[in-house]
Amino acid sequence: MLPTRKSKMKHALRPALSLAILIASASGLAASPSFTVDATRSAGKVSPKLYGLMTEEINHAYDGGLYAELIRNRAFLDDAKSPVNWSAVSDGASAATIALDPANPLNEKIPTSLRLTVTQATKDHPAGVANSGYWGIPVRPKTEYRASLWARAEAGFSGPLTVSIVSDDGRTVYASENISGLTTKWQKFEVTLKTGNVVPTAQARFAITLNQPGAVRLGLVSLFPPTWNNRPNGLRKDIMQMLVDLNPKFLRFPGGNYVEGNKIEDRFPWAKTLGPIEDRPGHACCWGYRSSDGMGLLEFLEWCEDMKAESVLAVYAGYSLGGDHINAGSELEPIVKEAVDEIEYVTGDTNTAWGARRARDGHPAPFTLNYVEIGNEDGFDQAKTYDARYAQIADGIRAKYPQLKLISTIPDAKLDGRKADMVDMHDYSATDEFIKKSRNYGAGMNRSGPEIFVGEWAAHEDAAARPWDAASWKLPPTPTMKAAIGDGVFMAAMERNSDIIKMNCYAPLLVNVNPGARQWRPDLIGYDALSAYGSPSYYAIQMFSRNLGDEILPVTFANTSIQGCATRDSQTGEIIVKLVNPELTPQALPIEIKGVTSLKSKATVITLAGNPEDTNSTSHPKNVVPITTTLSGVKPGFTYTLPPNSIVVIKLKAH
Ligand code: AHR
Repeated sequence: MLPTRKSKMKHALRPALSLAILIASASGLAASPSFTVDATRSAGKVSPKLYGLMTEEINHAYDGGLYAELIRNRAFLDDAKSPVNWSAVSDGASAATIALDPANPLNEKIPTSLRLTVTQATKDHPAGVANSGYWGIPVRPKTEYRASLWARAEAGFSGPLTVSIVSDDGRTVYASENISGLTTKWQKFEVTLKTGNVVPTAQARFAITLNQPGAVRLGLVSLFPPTWNNRPNGLRKDIMQMLVDLNPKFLRFPGGNYVEGNKIEDRFPWAKTLGPIEDRPGHACCWGYRSSDGMGLLEFLEWCEDMKAESVLAVYAGYSLGGDHINAGSELEPIVKEAVDEIEYVTGDTNTAWGARRARDGHPAPFTLNYVEIGNEDGFDQAKTYDARYAQIADGIRAKYPQLKLISTIPDAKLDGRKADMVDMHDYSATDEFIKKSRNYGAGMNRSGPEIFVGEWAAHEDAAARPWDAASWKLPPTPTMKAAIGDGVFMAAMERNSDIIKMNCYAPLLVNVNPGARQWRPDLIGYDALSAYGSPSYYAIQMFSRNLGDEILPVTFANTSIQGCATRDSQTGEIIVKLVNPELTPQALPIEIKGVTSLKSKATVITLAGNPEDTNSTSHPKNVVPITTTLSGVKPGFTYTLPPNSIVVIKLKAH
């Protein structure tokens, strides 16, 4: 499906040195490099929302990732024919079988259940069913896990069921509790499983066993470790910490292609993602697996709240990834209503129908919403129907919510005469291409048109690799230092132009690094069941987003392949210079700060450097990380030597 979609990617050779240097050396002239920051004037305001996050369900970003649920296929709906990811548990002296049982559904929304039949079991030889989670159940010492399940028994059996976290070989029980009181009616049971002082491992599974023959049906089965802010249907703490550390000002959700779905009926079904998890059937995600929809609309909004980031809500706009579209006119009216209702769920007070629903879901206070994106990458719509679809959806939204900023997914689209407040431009390029185009980025940009949102971007090391095509991946799931250099020059370019580029976010954000879990490379943050790590690109973004001034200072760089940008913090007078050295040798760079007579002699320098192929991983999470040092002898004109292949932030303090 994707190769033709992505044929827009351009390839370029990495220039070893700038053209100016080549000309200079050919003619024997010693052209001296320079980097000048003009501090006499500001080239505009730095957008305070410049750095944010983009997410969607891809690479097991939520299920098996940020969403802390540990049970895979918890509703037994992932496959209509068999209870995938569940297995019968027995030993030589016990016996059990499992099967889907759609004739005995949990409820209207979860139209199936799992029938567990134990024909032979004793206390010493239990039998039952187990789930290995998303590439293992993470066992941590002295940790409380919340297990819940729906169960009903056949007449004559009332329990007990033993619920436990056990090693894969069944020999070590990390935590265990009993459930009794089963009847022939569905009931929800909840227990807390507490581990002792165990060695962390993911070689474990979750088991439900009987110590005597009996038959039970199981409905939605769930297991949560401690979550961020202790939210019951919450998020994994280690990944959340990494996201918060990026200082994101917004979150673009729920896609990406995920908002569109492969088919129209597989678009993000926001209204079906609300309420208790046993009311959420999930849906087919466009990246080849089924989403549990545990990450529903409310969870996205609370996620923003927890990060103190604002929501950039993408609404479905009648075009799906597989190529189908809904024509503007009466056919599109239900889609317009869906979008308007969704916004009411987010922002409506409790007197509105959807605002009342949000209150019933546990969040009476309306959420703040300023940005709504209409669709995703609608430029791929071969039928060219976006102008009319945008116009109709924008009219519907503006009639009720005139204050919202609407984002078009096609820059320069005519939109049937309607206005877009912002356009979303995506840019996946090879590092060499970013190095080439970032130098003069923004020169021809229309500064009187809509604001710009770079809602997806990433540097790829290899121009020939196709990010969506696993067969073409030659590198680890997360980017190397070479890609971070491409990211660095592109961020510097966006920052220099942040008077018009108001927001940007890298994509994809998350990847479960287990083989078979991913659909795209590279991705910013990698993890398995037990641990998470940031790539060099993650740290590059962190360095940029955590050191953002509020005034853009014009910069000129000459006779050097180094690129960069500069901003000032108008409160403190601090000047923040960001530089990227794409060369494999150290580069001495004369830096001049024009218009400043003196600076404090000590500056803070944050450096990310490494060989192009260096990267981080679950086993070496801190191989490439930023290092903070103090630089002495700083003056308005000074020379700084950048390490090979490096990104450097220099914080110059005013007197
Ligand atoms: O980031 C991966 C995908 O790339 C997004 O879902 C889509 O919008 C883009 O084509």
